[in-house]
Amino acid sequence: MARMDVRCNVELPVNVIMDGSNSTGIESETKFTSLSLGGGFIELPPPSIENKIIGLRYDLPRYGEFEILGEVMRIEETGIAARFYNLNRDAKLKLWDYIRENISDDFSCPYCGKKNTQKLRRCDNCGWSLNFHSQDYLIEHEKESFIKRFEVKSESFSIEDIYKVLNFVDVEILKIGKNLDINEEFVGSSQEMLNVFSMIRKIAQTDIPVLITGESGTGKELTAMAIHERSLRKNRPFIPINCAAIPENLLEAELFGHEKGSFTGAVKQKMGKFEYADGGTVFLDEIGELSPNLQSKILRFLEDRVVERIGSNVGRKVDIRLIAATNNDLKSAINRGTFRKDLFYRLDVFNINLPPVRDRGGDKAILARYFLNKFSKEMKVARAFSPEAVDAIKIYDWPGNVREIINKVRRAVVMSRESVITPGDLDLELTAMKVDEVASLKEVRYSIEKQKLIEALKYCNNNISKVARVLGISRPSVYSLRKKYNI
Ligand SMILES: Nc1ncnc2c1ncn2[C@@H]1O[C@H](COP(=O)(O)OP(=O)(O)OP(=O)(O)O)[C@@H](O)[C@H]1O
Ligand SMILES: [Mg+2]
Repeated sequence: MARMDVRCNVELPVNVIMDGSNSTGIESETKFTSLSLGGGFIELPPPSIENKIIGLRYDLPRYGEFEILGEVMRIEETGIAARFYNLNRDAKLKLWDYIRENISDDFSCPYCGKKNTQKLRRCDNCGWSLNFHSQDYLIEHEKESFIKRFEVKSESFSIEDIYKVLNFVDVEILKIGKNLDINEEFVGSSQEMLNVFSMIRKIAQTDIPVLITGESGTGKELTAMAIHERSLRKNRPFIPINCAAIPENLLEAELFGHEKGSFTGAVKQKMGKFEYADGGTVFLDEIGELSPNLQSKILRFLEDRVVERIGSNVGRKVDIRLIAATNNDLKSAINRGTFRKDLFYRLDVFNINLPPVRDRGGDKAILARYFLNKFSKEMKVARAFSPEAVDAIKIYDWPGNVREIINKVRRAVVMSRESVITPGDLDLELTAMKVDEVASLKEVRYSIEKQKLIEALKYCNNNISKVARVLGISRPSVYSLRKKYNI
């Protein structure tokens, strides 16, 4: 594999400080024989060194003295290879200037060694840029090498790992979602939700209209906010409008605005939400509830992007991204003739369907624990679910989806007198069959576990280490299983 940093041969004096600080450490005067931005080779005859972390003090001709930390990566007969730590920006830029001046002029690629007699600006063997004297070289190189290093490291990643990393970067590093009014994290690690996160990430940077579908409480509004937050419009308004909550005549004025006196009650001029959101995102929730009149007005707006306030005949062009959501089956509404087909196709350019919580596998318990921690912190109490409560959470269908989890868990934190929350505190309406299912599952697990333990003990002549190996568990687990089943 080609190197990821340019290395050059040098003869640069360096003081190696063995304890990492010159007040207590032993200092040896020696030299770097090669240098790159990431580290260097230091001549140090044996017995070279015991420390893993060393201090390095060197004087770069024309640039001054630097003292940094290094980690010993390899010890060879002639010296040590060290990786640099805590190179600040200034030290890095100066080191790069020094390396650039010392890159050998033998027309070969300093990464892979291939001859470059034609003086190509990019190596035709390893692909690295050789344009060392360009002003932007270092920044471009840092970007390219970061991506390559990540590629190498991520070879062993599963696709879920990569999504997790991306999500971590979004939430923890880019702080996406933190400057909106979302104090909820977007929780989920089931495959279904990882697919949703991936779609959000893909579509966010475009202006393509999105139709979010899903049962009530599955997170449609949270999804719309997440798209806005990850888009280039994130510093402009995000305006949610619930089409079912506002009477038709007011909704039209709400969306398009009105002129003074344009209808009874219009005592002054008002700017509509579409105009107000210019440059940002409008989220039309419960779009299936729109009246035929408004459906055609919105369709017209989507075609020409011009807003005409009620009572005015002058239009104003606005730039908004439209995200719509519904928990209705719009296709059957089209068949019934209550929703316009042409509007549906305008809105449904990209569809994100949020799965109901009952189809999210392990996410049920993850969501419940997430909200338990959140509310416990808010209410300054310590609460945990009993194992039976976790079982109940897992088998319950959660028809009200995430919103129902939030409500039930909040209620349980308030109502429970003990620190352990029981199924009763959660007040779930489990059907008799479901309760039996839990009981019988437990019984099955119990008897299989016990039977396997008896067999393994017999097979291994009661040798606990062997039993542990055969069952693939630790020795302490064998002891605790024997205790549990009284064997
Ligand atoms: N995956 C999730 N992680 C954390 N919180 C979530 C998640 N999904 C939804 N929520 C929270 O659940 C509540 C309901 O979500 P939201 O309002 O987005 O659902 P909805 O699909 O728009 O519901 P409705 O159809 O009833 O309008 C909100 O408080 C939201 O922040
Ligand atoms: Mg909603």
